[in-house]
Amino acid sequence: MKISFAAEAKADIAAFLVDEGGKLSGAAIEMDKAAGGLLSEAIAADRFSGKTGQQAFVVLPKGLSAKRAALVGAGKKKGRGAREYETIGGAIVKAHANSGFKSIAVHVDDAEDGARVAAGAKLAAYRFDEYFTKLKPDQKPSVTSFSVVTEDEKAARAAWKPLNAATDGTYLARDLVNLPPNDLYPGSFAKRIEALEKLGMEVEILGEKEMTRLKMHSLLGVGQGSRKESKLGIMKWMGAKDKDADPVILVGKGVTFDTGGISLKPGAGMEDMRGDMGGAGAVTGTMRALAERKAKANVIGLVGLVENMPDGDAQRPGDIVKTADGQTIEIQNTDAEGRLVLADVLWYAQKHFKPAAMVDLATLTGAIVISLGHHHAGMFTDSDDLSDELSKAGMNEGERVWRLPLGPEYDRLLKSKFADMRNIGGRAAGSITAAQFLKRFVNDGVKWAHLDIAGVAWVEGHKEATDPSWASGFGPRLLDRWIADNYED
Ligand code: BES
Ligand code: MN
Ligand code: ZN
Repeated sequence: MKISFAAEAKADIAAFLVDEGGKLSGAAIEMDKAAGGLLSEAIAADRFSGKTGQQAFVVLPKGLSAKRAALVGAGKKKGRGAREYETIGGAIVKAHANSGFKSIAVHVDDAEDGARVAAGAKLAAYRFDEYFTKLKPDQKPSVTSFSVVTEDEKAARAAWKPLNAATDGTYLARDLVNLPPNDLYPGSFAKRIEALEKLGMEVEILGEKEMTRLKMHSLLGVGQGSRKESKLGIMKWMGAKDKDADPVILVGKGVTFDTGGISLKPGAGMEDMRGDMGGAGAVTGTMRALAERKAKANVIGLVGLVENMPDGDAQRPGDIVKTADGQTIEIQNTDAEGRLVLADVLWYAQKHFKPAAMVDLATLTGAIVISLGHHHAGMFTDSDDLSDELSKAGMNEGERVWRLPLGPEYDRLLKSKFADMRNIGGRAAGSITAAQFLKRFVNDGVKWAHLDIAGVAWVEGHKEATDPSWASGFGPRLLDRWIADNYED
């Protein structure tokens, strides 16, 4: 779907925003006149109240600039913000994407609001249908053009540029999470990262040989039962004026499939573990967004890419591994593998770079889904500043985070009889002990947060129009905004 901005536009469907209360305004009044009052009639007859996203359709008489009018509820003016405008854009696309019509023009007075409507439309237009071979024409979207009609089209285009980049990041994160594990494995994920070099990003991929040399045995242990070679992906976007300024570090869990290993998961629903690289997908999507909009910030993304399989060579419960930073871990459950991957990636990041701030994202624990469900990611940090920054960015972009505690009482639960720590903390507070485990690999003084995105990376069933596929693509919008607001020249 092509998105454009114009001062006027001819389209199959002309969409107008209507405030709660159902009064027409601006361009809608003119269209109503031209259509002999059909619009106001529809509002009265359709019980249309103007609640956000609600819609009424009108067949227009011949000879007007559009074939259909869509009246779209815009809610109350007070408190209407970016989120609501995106919901409106999403509602329009959801209602008409498969209508048979080809083009939509929506009238929005304010340029920035118009850009947000466009963002919502683009988020809602996402499809992941490359694996369907039998789609009939009427199962494919018909709308190919979405234009926002607004007076200051230049300002709208300027506001759209970074939003477009961020939503491209969301698209990439969604694709990565949606892709099946036979096609997306560490090596092929790395190839997709390398493809981002064309945006001016610097990419480095390490394989098992290099990581063995670096003694990253915690990460390597997770992948040792897989036929697929484990990889470490490093993406650099050094866009700040001072190329030597300390970078923001993003770290992602990239378990391309998590069977649980020898501590095998139950069969039912295991296919969802195709999405266990959601953290790495979020980091990769964010890096894409930053490069596309040429962010004036230094940001380095690192993703630990492994496949967790049961095998004759797989890691056993009882094994003791040594991480690259020299700590020993007794493996008590091979299904608590994400933290083992992240331990070595966090080490690598701090060994090679000096983080201005460091955020890791991981589909780390089932427990966070029980705690927060599908509407907030869990956030763990000792920094009140970082907590505020991320909470605010998340609220603004509709990718919300909720802080949970850390503390020495929880850390103690990781005690092992045989090694410096074990990789599970017991039944209680599973998401917190996982975060405590990661914290053991974060150097003192580093401004760090861990986001457990297991509940938000994908969601089954009823969802908002702007979140149309299984994978939500959680992460890039939040992180891009966080960087733009706090770490950019
Ligand atoms: N990838 C899973 C966590 C997960 C569960 C993500 C459900 C999304 C939905 C992770 O590797 C895992 O298996 N965690 C275990 C940890 C336990 C063994 C301590 C879990 O949550 O059960
Ligand atoms: Mn697991
Ligand atoms: Zn996992």
